[in-house]
Order: sequence, then C-alpha cells, then structure tokens
Amino acid sequence: MKQTILVTGGTGFIGSHTTVELQNAGYKVVIVDNLSNSQASVIDGIEKITGVRPAFEQVDCRDMDAMDKVFAKYPDIEGIIHFAASKAVGESVEKPLLYYRNNIVSLLNLLELMPKHGVKGIIFSSSCTVYGQPDPENLPVTEDAPIKPAESPYGNTKQINEEIIRDYINSGADIKAILLRYFNPIGSHPSSIIGEMPNGVPMNLIPYVTQTAIGIREQLKVFGNDYDTPDGTCIRDYIYVVDLAKAHVKAMERVLDTDSDKLEVFNVGTGHGVSTKQIIDAFEKATGVKLNWAYAPRRAGDIEKVWANPEKANKVLGWKAETSLEDTLRSAWNWQKKLREEGIQ
Ligand code: NAD
Ligand code: WQD
Repeated sequence: MKQTILVTGGTGFIGSHTTVELQNAGYKVVIVDNLSNSQASVIDGIEKITGVRPAFEQVDCRDMDAMDKVFAKYPDIEGIIHFAASKAVGESVEKPLLYYRNNIVSLLNLLELMPKHGVKGIIFSSSCTVYGQPDPENLPVTEDAPIKPAESPYGNTKQINEEIIRDYINSGADIKAILLRYFNPIGSHPSSIIGEMPNGVPMNLIPYVTQTAIGIREQLKVFGNDYDTPDGTCIRDYIYVVDLAKAHVKAMERVLDTDSDKLEVFNVGTGHGVSTKQIIDAFEKATGVKLNWAYAPRRAGDIEKVWANPEKANKVLGWKAETSLEDTLRSAWNWQKKLREEGIQ
C-alpha cells in the first residue's frame, strides 16, 4: 500500500475520478467534502469501481478546527489533492465574497495545517482561466505565458491561490506543491458509475450537449460564429476526466517520491484545439444521435481560443492524454443515459 492522501472535494466530478485512479494505483484515500455540490452516494460508486471504500469525512474545509481533527484522526496523511472549491463563473460575479471565502480560506487552512501534521505535499486544482486570452504568439499556451487579469472572481481565486502557495513556499515552508492548470475537463468514467453532475441548467458545453441529446433541453445554442477561428466558433482543449485524474497520480508520485523542486506548474490538456462546431460533429459521429442546435450571439466574457502546450507534463510527469475525443464524448453520453435510467435527469 502506498501513502495516504487527503482528497478535498473528493465526491465532486474530478475528485471522484481521481480517487478511483489513486486507489487503483495503490494509494489510501481520505475524502473530505461538505457535499455542497455533490452526493455522499458517490462513495458507493467509487467502492463499486475499485473494490475499496475510501474513508469519508463530511467536513467543510473552511472549518479550521474540524480540519485539524481530520488530520489528527488520520495521522498517516502525507499528501493532499485540493479540489474543494466553488466553481461557477457566473455565480462568482454575483456572490464574490462567497467565492473568496470558500476558495481562499479553505486553502489557507490546509497550508497552515500541513507542517503541524507532517503533510509533505499538496496538488492544487488550478485552471487555464489564469491565461485569459493568450496572445497569438503564445498559442498553444505554455506554463510561462503571462497570467492575464482575471475575468471573474472565480478566476481571481485561482490566481490568488497560486500566489498564496508560491509565497508560502518562498517563505521557507517545509512543503512541496504542484499547481495543475486544467483545460476543459469532460466525460465520465467508462463504467458510467460516477460522472459529472451539473446543478440546474448547465453552463458548460458538454452537459448541455448531452442534456439536449436526451431531450431535457430543447436546443443547444452555439455562442458566436464570427470568431477569428477556422469555422468561426470558439476553440478549447477538451481533456477526458479520467486522463486528467491520472495526471494527479503522476503529480503525487513526483511530489512525495522524488526530489523535484518545491513548486512546479503543469498544464493538463491534450494539446489539441477543438471548436464548438467540431464538438457537435464529433458527438453526432460518436453516438449516432442528431443534435438540435443553432447559432446564437456571443456569450459575454468568452475567450476566443485557448489550448495547451502539454509538453512539460508529457516529459516531466511522464503523463499524456490518451483517450480520443470520440471515446470521451461517448462516455459523457453513456453517463447521461445512465442518469435517465435511474430517473435522476
Ligand atoms: P465539483 O463542484 O464537482 O467538485 C468540488 C467539490 O468540492 C464538490 O463535491 C463540493 O461539494 C466540494 N466543496 C466545495 N467547497 C467545499 C468546502 N468548503 N469544503 C469541503 N468541500 C467543498 O467541481 P469539479 O469540476 O470537480 O472541480 C474540482 C476543482 O477543479 C475545483 O477547484 C475547480 O475550480 C477546479 N477546476 C475545474 C474545472 C472544470 O471545468 N470542472 C476546470 C479547471 C479547474
Ligand atoms: C466551452 C465552449 C462556449 C455552452 C469554463 C470556465 C473556466 C473553466 C472551464 C474552471 C465556449 C461554448 C458553451 C453552450 C456554447 N472552469 N458553449 N453553448 O467557457 O471554456 O470555461 O469552464 O476553471 O474557468 O469559464 O467552458 O464549457 O462553458 O464553454 O456554445 O451552451 O462552448 O461559448 O466556447 P469555458 P464552457
């Protein structure tokens, strides 16, 4: 058995998939989640897939005393993967203080508790949102591209959290950290036992696509067809959530088992820019389902095009996105059908 890892936000979308991959790789996992955006039944799903039930504590990362008790209860914790955060960009504009408190206080508590409880490393969930719209010469975007002013309080919390971790390590703190900048995570576990559970009307493209395909939404609106891209629609780097989860296992091995630098940053993307229109075509091809969609005006604040240069993660972490877009979209569709079968959506 490898080391014990605390996964905050472990019943959420990316956290649940990462717990599966950590357990498959032999790590012991303790999940902390306040269930503000997920369900406790996800633990059953993780057990069903892996045969191992992770420890689970329903605790809020903002609660310093409760987090202190978690570390005291599980003294073997050596690493943290910190997913717990509020993540809805639009909501963050309406409720900025909620976002600043949740996303910043949670990290501060973890960082303060790490040395006290002998926790050596932390992997932080950052985002390509820190790059804003990269200048044309910086596409595909590397980790050295300039950080642009944040477009939302949510995006700002990611930038501030990166700076907090950097400042803390620069102060001589005896911890190591890896910042993983995710591009657009999509899809669900191939078993369809765990997956993405959007709240209300989805803001993200793929859940909107699958909900339209199954008839929950009438029509997908493609926001803008006059961008400076080959087909006029926006370009993103869509990364399969299971591939993304595996990047965390590699990052954890690097933090705990090697003498790597105390702070490192990696892009986690495929390296391929895909347009919204190409997503629709690929979804129809992969599933055989015809989507009802139409062009609509641009969405305020959208980035025109961004995709990753993932070479650093490929070389240094020894990680590469492996799953095809078609397989990824099929996994999202299978998950949507499973939700329907269970009467959930
Ligand atoms: P998610 O909402 O599915 O998962 C987050 C989990 O954290 C939820 O289960 C929620 O209940 C929990 N949580 C929130 N605040 C908490 C708190 N104070 N204490 C304990 N638990 C708390 O989101 P996700 O898509 O899995 O995202 C995980 C992380 O990755 C987040 O930090 C997010 O900002 C980051 N990220 C996500 C994306 C994306 O597109 N999904 C992209 C880049 C970065
Ligand atoms: C993708 C593309 C839309 C819905 C957001 C956050 C970002 C990051 C990932 C966390 C865009 C288009 C979408 C629809 C559409 N999260 N679209 N019709 O905007 O890249 O990023 O999630 O860090 O911070 O901002 O992802 O899935 O919302 O959109 O045409 O109904 O799909 O315009 O081009 P985005 P998305």
